[in-house]
Amino acid sequence: MIKVITYGTYDLLHYGHIRLLKRAKALGDYLIVGVTADDFDKIRGKINVQQSLMERVEAIRATGIANEIIIEEYEGQKIDDIKRYDVDIFTVGSDWIGEFDYLNEYCRVIYLPRTEGISSSEIREAKRALTLGLVGDSMFLNKVASESKYVNGVCIVGICTKKADSLSDDIKALPLITDKLEELLNYVDAVYIRTKPEEHYQQIKSALIHGKHVLCESPITINAEEYEELARIAHNNNLVLMEAIKTAYATAYARLLLLLKGDKIGDIVSVDATCTRLKKEVDVSDWNGIHEWGPTALLPVFQILGVNYKDRLVVAKYQDRERIHDSFVKMDFIYNNAVASVKVGDGVKSEGELIVSGTKGYAYVPAPWWKTDYFEIRYENASENKRYFYQLDGEGIRYELVAFSKSIETGKNFSNISSVVSKTIVDIMEKFDKASGIISI
Ligand code: CTP
Repeated sequence: MIKVITYGTYDLLHYGHIRLLKRAKALGDYLIVGVTADDFDKIRGKINVQQSLMERVEAIRATGIANEIIIEEYEGQKIDDIKRYDVDIFTVGSDWIGEFDYLNEYCRVIYLPRTEGISSSEIREAKRALTLGLVGDSMFLNKVASESKYVNGVCIVGICTKKADSLSDDIKALPLITDKLEELLNYVDAVYIRTKPEEHYQQIKSALIHGKHVLCESPITINAEEYEELARIAHNNNLVLMEAIKTAYATAYARLLLLLKGDKIGDIVSVDATCTRLKKEVDVSDWNGIHEWGPTALLPVFQILGVNYKDRLVVAKYQDRERIHDSFVKMDFIYNNAVASVKVGDGVKSEGELIVSGTKGYAYVPAPWWKTDYFEIRYENASENKRYFYQLDGEGIRYELVAFSKSIETGKNFSNISSVVSKTIVDIMEKFDKASGIISI
């Protein structure tokens, strides 16, 4: 009996896949199809896969072509599989020519001509086709523009900015560059806003009223009532209003949260998050330190301990007499059975780490924790310590864009930040701006 094996993602199964499977089967008597698991696809750079692993497996099963279906989970597995299943022929489409020649050592390798004119990427692109406009002058938008290229179907077509000249060539080449928000809004399905938080309310409202979805850098607003109003407008008009904090989409951070929900470190007693930077000079057009860093630093506190803290102590050091620009803020939160401490420095430097302490051990995320690919779970007995490594693709931005476009497309919420957390962040910002209960040093 001649055994044949082939691998693929098989997202949104199309006739290109079916033709390949039929020809693969015809090469022998028994066909094994390896379907790539989501995590392995991510490592390979495929981040837009629409269907779950089970849906993709079911679709292959339904064709009746495969004699056996297996899951591909790790680098190097093909060699293991070929040996384990005693495979005679390995085959894939001609888009992979040369890539798998190294398997010739274990079996015959055959590249079958790929079917022209169809691919999962194209189907995804056609399904989504979301035109996105950028709003703001920040250099960060350069990253958003380059990261969007990894997301099928999201196409950045314009920007509303006053500083197009200082932005990247990608941005300068956009079809629409304007300093009028209305003009951009008439041109796009959705906007990514990265302006000063005090401008967000008007800009978001205007976008929502024009029927556009909004992804806005956190804090969404700096006033709780305004936040409620915007959330209501979005909800009533079936529009997505999503908060952008890239860390929430960084794989290591997202996995840490899941791990903590298990019993890995016991009961959580303390969350300590520090985010600081030193800047060359004070620029009044800059964001306040607390606006810039506060949401990121507060994120693990509210996502791990919840938002129902009992008490809060805030100490701030300001750069100016008017107490507008903070250079250092320390916030302590008291919960029923836990505490949290957040340190934010904009002109004060410290170790940017995240530590979550528990009754059995602790999680340690080294600086800069908000864009890390690695963390450790540590115990009293150091030989039990575990290290976790993940890929940090685009600091989380591309996954944030995937979540945004998926939410728009499906009408379901794919955000990694709940609205309760968003609202609490806004509330903290408002209280800080009103200087309510702040000790100034
Ligand atoms: N394939 C093919 N003809 C196509 C598309 C895919 O023969 N038009 C083959 C690939 O060469 C591979 C298998 O089908 O052997 C599974 O491919 P997969 O990567 O899952 O499909 P694509 O449509 O290429 O997906 P994507 O656009 O995400 O790369």
